[in-house]
Amino acid sequence: MASRVIPVEDFDLVIFGGTGDLARRKILPGLYRRFCSGQMPETARIIGAARSEHDTAEFRQIVRDAIREFSKKNACDDALIGTFLEQLHYVQVDAKGEDGWDDLRDLMRKDVVKAYYFSVAPSLFGDLAERLQAHGIADEDARIVVEKPFGRDLASAKKLNQDLAKHFDETQIYRIDHYLGKETVQNLMAVRFGNILFEPLWNSQYVDHIQITVAETVGVGGRGEYYDKSGAMRDMVQNHLMQLLCLIAMEPPSRFNPDAVRDEKLKVIRALEPIDHHHIVRGQYDATETEPSYREDAGDPRSRTESFIALRCMISNWRWAGTPFYLRTGKKLKARASEIAVVFKDAPHSIFGEEAGRHANVLSIRLQPNEGMTLKVTIKEPGPGGMRLIDVPLDMSFADALGEEADDIPDAYERLIMDVIRGNQTLFMRGDEVQAAWAWTDPLIESWEARSDVPKHYDAYSSGPEDAAMMLHREGRRWREIKE
Ligand code: NDP
Ligand code: BG6
Repeated sequence: MASRVIPVEDFDLVIFGGTGDLARRKILPGLYRRFCSGQMPETARIIGAARSEHDTAEFRQIVRDAIREFSKKNACDDALIGTFLEQLHYVQVDAKGEDGWDDLRDLMRKDVVKAYYFSVAPSLFGDLAERLQAHGIADEDARIVVEKPFGRDLASAKKLNQDLAKHFDETQIYRIDHYLGKETVQNLMAVRFGNILFEPLWNSQYVDHIQITVAETVGVGGRGEYYDKSGAMRDMVQNHLMQLLCLIAMEPPSRFNPDAVRDEKLKVIRALEPIDHHHIVRGQYDATETEPSYREDAGDPRSRTESFIALRCMISNWRWAGTPFYLRTGKKLKARASEIAVVFKDAPHSIFGEEAGRHANVLSIRLQPNEGMTLKVTIKEPGPGGMRLIDVPLDMSFADALGEEADDIPDAYERLIMDVIRGNQTLFMRGDEVQAAWAWTDPLIESWEARSDVPKHYDAYSSGPEDAAMMLHREGRRWREIKE
């Protein structure tokens, strides 16, 4: 299969925070890959902007080192990196002061797409928006890209939306949730709306329940102080898991266009029922013989922030009434594995008799690693001995199905940045969507804070606290195993 790369329009992309961790690990190596693929025009420019004093040559060296450190080894061709770096520039700018803004304005070209990526602390987003306008740098077609976290509750998210709206129209604002840029996450929509097979069964009449798991093996060491103010609910559920839930649960949009898709996602969030505390389990990982506990990583021996959370969500609408959506995510779990599993109901009647066994069909979509899909179906156990039923997986790995082309699939950041340049907001969150997500999340957090709820312990590299397993056992269900 030949890969089809369509170059985007010529652009000037300014990365505020161009020397920071996110820019060096994800954004710049990602742009280099788009350059290598031929998607980035030879005339396009990337302008790093930050307070520190660097000239363009020094910035290029920083980016060269970042590409070497954070790109796959076979992607690092010295000559190609050299050519890519010629498209990079650096401007010293202070988001909170007036220095450097006129230099930036003078550097920007007319008649090309202009995008400004806010890869700086969220407290600077408003300042950047204001100064871009005040210095006449951003025209009405310019785009701004805003990183997470987008607020820490409804009030702060509203304020941020208002601050940005003073200077930019909603059509110019690209709020990043990098999960939406993942290939398999987009595949959720392709699977649901590109096949006739699943949609008739995609409702509470046929689906027993849905499980969404995003398990990580990493702890929070190194970013414990930041994480402890956030926790799994704010860091993962309010954004990434909520987006997955929306894509799985939403009604078919009339078109794959930004507002049609985002309108449907918003309806799902608004239909989420409040959750009582029996349906939420929070946890913190314990120390191992060689590794610190969550509380040690967080630097607070009394921390009540969760590094794990499991919840049962219900959606009050015609399609999903009565079907639980179980969500769980955590750090230091037994494997890095993210999947969505749609567990169908048992067949209504077994013609083979109960002794043959009954097995529910399960469609599991593996988001990472080993991206792919498995449909568990029931067949007869081979051989003599009567009709006994067993499960077998119909297994499809995207890497096998796509062959070499799988290596060329852009990672989430690459794809999303190219979408910004193309002016396509479908995979970005709209302001009202983010606010609705906080409006649902806030009371849950307030409720456990008001009860001074203490997270349960769990062994590092396990499946999480026992109470999370019990939450499903009580309802006659069990979590799927966390495995790569
Ligand atoms: P870093 O602290 O590593 O980098 C911050 C960058 O901002 C530096 O380039 C810094 O350079 C620049 N900066 C700081 N103050 C100013 C200022 N007043 N004016 C202009 N530039 C300034 O942060 P990260 O890269 O980790 O994070 C950036 C954003 O991305 C944050 O919003 C974060 O929440 C988000 N994010 C980060 C992820 C990650 O993996 N790192 C993942 C998801 C989101 P200098 O000091 O020279 O000014
Ligand atoms: C980030 C969270 O948004 O997503 C991190 O802040 C988390 O805590 C990360 O580790 C997970 O992203 P991915 O792409 O590795 O699944």
